[in-house]
Amino acid sequence: MKYKKNILETVGHTPLIQLTKISKGLKPMIFVKAEFFNPGGSVKDRPAIKMIEEAEKAGLLKPGGTIIEPTSGNTGVGLAQVAAVKGYRCILVMPDKMSEEKFALIKAYGAEVVKVPTTATSSPESYNNVAQRLATEIHGAFLPNQFQNPYNPDSHYLTTGPEIWEDTDGKVTHYVAGVGTGGTLSGVAKYLKEKNPKVQIIGIDPEGSIYSGAYSKSYKVEGIGEDFLPRNVNMALIDHFERVSDRGAFETAVRLAREEGILAGGSAGAAVCGALKIAENLKETDVVVVILPDTGRAYLSKFYSEKWMKEMGFTKESPYRITLKELLAKKELSDKLISISLKSTVKEAINVMRKSGISQLPVLHNNGYVGSLSEISLMQGIFDRTIQVSDEIKKIMNKPFPELDESKEAIEAFHEFALGSPAILVLRDSKPTGLLTKIDLLDHFLEENKEFASV
Ligand SMILES: Cc1ncc(COP(=O)(O)O)c(C=O)c1O
Repeated sequence: MKYKKNILETVGHTPLIQLTKISKGLKPMIFVKAEFFNPGGSVKDRPAIKMIEEAEKAGLLKPGGTIIEPTSGNTGVGLAQVAAVKGYRCILVMPDKMSEEKFALIKAYGAEVVKVPTTATSSPESYNNVAQRLATEIHGAFLPNQFQNPYNPDSHYLTTGPEIWEDTDGKVTHYVAGVGTGGTLSGVAKYLKEKNPKVQIIGIDPEGSIYSGAYSKSYKVEGIGEDFLPRNVNMALIDHFERVSDRGAFETAVRLAREEGILAGGSAGAAVCGALKIAENLKETDVVVVILPDTGRAYLSKFYSEKWMKEMGFTKESPYRITLKELLAKKELSDKLISISLKSTVKEAINVMRKSGISQLPVLHNNGYVGSLSEISLMQGIFDRTIQVSDEIKKIMNKPFPELDESKEAIEAFHEFALGSPAILVLRDSKPTGLLTKIDLLDHFLEENKEFASV
C-alpha cells in the first residue's frame, strides 16, 4: 500500500510551474514555485513542522503543552495542523487586518484565535507582545517565535532550497521571494548561494516596509514587509530589494489567476510583479524562480472582489484614482499659487493668510521653495512668545512642502498627508503649479462617495 501516515508527511515537494502568458516578451524562463500545494495552503507548513519537532526534541514542548504564536495567518494554519495531528492546544494571536477567511480557517482546525489591533510592533497591544505575554502566563506554553527561531529558515535550507536546485537542474540564476519573517528567503538563499554563489537573491518588499525603505507606513498586502528587522532576515544574502506597490501586487495576482489559471495570494502577486520587472533586464539563459507563498482562496473577499478593489482605490473607476491635476482644477482659484517671500515678516504672512483665507503658505526664495509656514506654528510661536509679529518668517518656518507631479494620483497625496504634511506642492514640468491640502482631498471624496452625500 502506498500512503502517508498523516497529513504532515504531504508537506513539501511543491511543483515548479512555468509562466507562459504574463511573461510574454521577456527573455528568461520564469518559474513559480507553487507553495499553495502544501496541505495548509502555504509555504508556512514547512517551518511549522520543523519548529515543533525541534522543540519536542529539546524538551521545550511536552505532551499536553500549548503552542502560542503571533502570526499573520499562514504560520497559524501550519501550527494548527501540527497541533491537531500531535494533540497540542494551539493559541494564535493575529492582527485584525487579516482577512476573515484566515480567522475562520484557523478556527476550523480547532485552534483558538486572539484578535488584536493592527498596531506598531512597539505597542503593548501588538500581536508579538500579546503572544509573548500569553506564553509567560500559560503553563506548558511554547512560543515558536518564527521571527527569531533558527529552525524557520532551516526548514527552507533543508527542503525548499534543495527542491529548487534539483528541479532546475542547478540552472537557477535568480531567486525571487517576499520577505516576512525572512525564513523562506534566508533559508533558500543560503542553500542556493552555497551551491552557486552567483545566484542572485531578490527580496520583494511592499511600499511601506522598512526592509527597503527609510520609514514604515501602512499597506494592504499580507504576510510580507515589517516595521522592524527580525533576526531571521539575513540582509547579507540579499543582492537586491524590489519594492512593489499594493496595486502592483493585487493586479498581478488577479492576472495570474485569469491568464495562467494560478490562484495565489497578494504576496505571490507582489513577487511575480517584482520578478517581471527584474526580468526585463535579463537574458535567454537566465532562469528565474519565484515563490508563491499561499493560495488565493484566503483573499476572495479582498483583492479578488471587484467591490473591495474599488473601495480601496485600486480600480480605474475608483474616485481615488483622480490625478492631482484634476483635483487642482476643481479648486477655486486653482490657477493661483499663493506664496510668501523669505524676507517677509510674521505680520505680513498673517495678513496674506487672512486675505486669501488659507492656513499654509510655501516660502519662496530665489525662485525656489525653501520652506513652509502654517497657521498653527504661527499661532504657537506667538502664544509661546518665541516670535514677534515684526520678526522675519525665517525664524518660524518649517521644511518645504513635499512636491508631487500633477500626473500622480490622489493616493500618493494621501500618503504624504498621512505622514504629517499639511500641504503638497503640485508640479507641472518640474515647476510648482498649485497647492493641495487635506480638505481638497476630503471635498473630492465626499462629492464622489454617495454614502456621504448627505454630509
Ligand atoms: C502570505 C505570505 N507571504 C509571504 C510570507 C513570507 O514568508 P517568510 O515569513 O518566510 O518571509 C508569509 C509569511 O507569513 C505569508 O503569510
